Amino acid sequence: MSRRRMVIIRFYRGRLLLGTAEAEVDEPLVDVAEKAGVEIPTNCTSGNCGTCLVRLVEGRVDYPDPLPPGLDEFLVEDGGVLACCMEPIGACDIDVIPPL
Ligand code: FES
Repeated sequence: MSRRRMVIIRFYRGRLLLGTAEAEVDEPLVDVAEKAGVEIPTNCTSGNCGTCLVRLVEGRVDYPDPLPPGLDEFLVEDGGVLACCMEPIGACDIDVIPPL
């Protein structure tokens, strides 16, 4: 399976690169960010509140079906990802500034 490999995740604030870390299998983005020295605020850590919303700039993440309450299709269209409960599928660039 292609997910069974380590992938590099880069975290940005806008165009500023904040940090880079390797994601392990099934590791949520918020944990990868912590390894990269990047803090993403969380609250519920279960996909409900949207506090951990970030923006996927490049790459793919594993979107659950149905989407969790903290996310909707409009946010997904704008790259919205809930860092607390979603994992990267491959190399990703993440902007910690969420979609507006
Ligand atoms: S911390 Fe609540 S949805 Fe991620």
